[in-house]
Amino acid sequence: MATILPILLSFLIGLTLVRGDTVIVPGATWTDTSGNVIQAHGGGILTVGNTFYWFGEDKASNSDLFTAVSCYSSTDLLTWSRQNDALTPIAGTMISSSDIVERPKVLYNQKNSEYVMWFHSDNSSYGAAMVGVATSKTPCGPYTYQASWKPFGADSRDMGLFQDTSQTSYLLYASDNNQNFKISMLDSNYYNVTTEVGVLTGATLEAPGIVKRNSIYYLFASHTSGWAPNPNKWFQAPSLSGNWSAQADIAPEPVRTYFSQNNYDLPLGSNAIYMGDRWRPTLLGSSRYIWLPLDWSTGSPQLVWADVWSVDLAAGTYSIANGTTYEAESGTLGGTATLLTDSSFSGGEAVGYLGNGGTVTLSNVQGNGKDQWVSLYYANGDSTWRNVTVSVNGGPTTLVDQPDTGGGHVILSVPVKLTLNSGSNSITFGSNQSNYAGDLDKIVVYTQG
Ligand SMILES: *[C@@H]1O[C@H](CO)[C@@H](O)[C@H](O)[C@H]1NC(C)=O
Ligand SMILES: *[C@@H]1O[C@H](CO)[C@@H](O)[C@H](O)[C@H]1NC(C)=O
Ligand SMILES: *[C@@H]1O[C@H](CO)[C@@H](O)[C@H](O)[C@H]1NC(C)=O
Ligand SMILES: *[C@@H]1O[C@H](CO)[C@@H](O)[C@H](O)[C@H]1NC(C)=O
Ligand SMILES: *[C@@H]1O[C@H](CO)[C@@H](O)[C@H](O)[C@H]1NC(C)=O
Ligand SMILES: *[C@@H]1O[C@H](CO)[C@@H](O)[C@H](O)[C@H]1NC(C)=O
Repeated sequence: MATILPILLSFLIGLTLVRGDTVIVPGATWTDTSGNVIQAHGGGILTVGNTFYWFGEDKASNSDLFTAVSCYSSTDLLTWSRQNDALTPIAGTMISSSDIVERPKVLYNQKNSEYVMWFHSDNSSYGAAMVGVATSKTPCGPYTYQASWKPFGADSRDMGLFQDTSQTSYLLYASDNNQNFKISMLDSNYYNVTTEVGVLTGATLEAPGIVKRNSIYYLFASHTSGWAPNPNKWFQAPSLSGNWSAQADIAPEPVRTYFSQNNYDLPLGSNAIYMGDRWRPTLLGSSRYIWLPLDWSTGSPQLVWADVWSVDLAAGTYSIANGTTYEAESGTLGGTATLLTDSSFSGGEAVGYLGNGGTVTLSNVQGNGKDQWVSLYYANGDSTWRNVTVSVNGGPTTLVDQPDTGGGHVILSVPVKLTLNSGSNSITFGSNQSNYAGDLDKIVVYTQG
């Protein structure tokens, strides 16, 4: 045994490396098993046995016009292999390549042994405000387009679906010019709505998801601010017809849901996984995915920020990786870089005026000789996207995008995978760039790659 165990372990580690990431890293560029960037925005998950299917909008064109509803499959939520497209444009219909197909969600209809996809179906000015339905006998289809229409003759824009334990299912949708949020029961085929069961009048909600936990329904939704993030909310009710509790935040308001918008909420044991989109409207195909633990341990559903984390699907639990923190203010400042003082920064300080002549170098950063995730905690101080160069041990720079933090000293983190030497490393930020980077608060180095 003593000799077999190390061999077994190295075999398992070898497998892990071949399979790619073993951790969820919100905001990183997620790739599929072919190495292509995952294009499944505004998505939803369908679970069939042990397999997860992730449907979403393919935005590789960077346009909001319809190109495809993609379908990816995975058994671990980490390794995604792209299947055939589930839905593609049909000229002369409401799903032509000059129309909008967003937020695809799929349910399995037991009665008909059929998969039914619902989506926000619209024209290019978002003026049609319809739902669309397509059906298939297999999870990834391709799906047969059925129709687009206004449920009960009223608007339907950002939407989701919820399948109750009884199999009765519901459309969740922003209606009446996004003013009223509605929940309507589907017929037993899941082809149409039959009864409006609940309205949150004047709620201005969109991007909904529902999780049922201990017989209580929890609704998650954002408010309406276009592609820009806002503080997403939760509501609870004993029934889908209400009464819904007053709205409450799922994360501290200033971080605007860690710059994301809800798209789906997947139950995980007694908690859930929040799945959000970090939209990048000027480069839609580079919008990233923010998946985070949605945890009830405080008594209400709250997002837990995690740079690097993993799920144990069998146990229904999650685990957040621990990294080693290096404060930016402990580094060596170069050029015009300046120490900034504010209580919102870790340690009360950060380094500002990086880029455009300012640098900071963190020395003695311990590495393990492998590719490792490093999270950069930063604040942009204004409502713009920035970026920062990172150079390890004097090597070539890697450019890391720094999404708009919303102004002030709101701090977000973005991940970058770096190859660190085993032992000490020096990492320089802001060299070789003529634009200003975000203010750097700290970095956290993880052992995982
Ligand atoms: C979209 O549909 C609305 C409602 O019919 C219409 O007013 C608008 O002109 C349409 N937009 C385009 C680009 O066709
Ligand atoms: C949905 O039902 C309404 C009647 O309640 C009907 O007018 C509409 O055509 C139906 N839509 C589809 C796609 O069957
Ligand atoms: C729902 O709220 C209304 C108004 O606040 C109240 O009159 C009603 O009793 C509530 N219903 C339940 C079931 O709590
Ligand atoms: C991270 O540290 C905490 C506190 O020491 C510990 O409870 C947790 O298990 C650690 N997480 C991992 C993934 O090791
Ligand atoms: C880096 O950020 C600046 C704004 O600070 C922007 O003008 C530039 O286009 C960005 N570079 C890249 C490659 O995205
Ligand atoms: C500096 O940045 C340019 C792109 O702006 C890049 O081509 C070059 O390789 C970078 N130099 C170093 C040393 O990283």
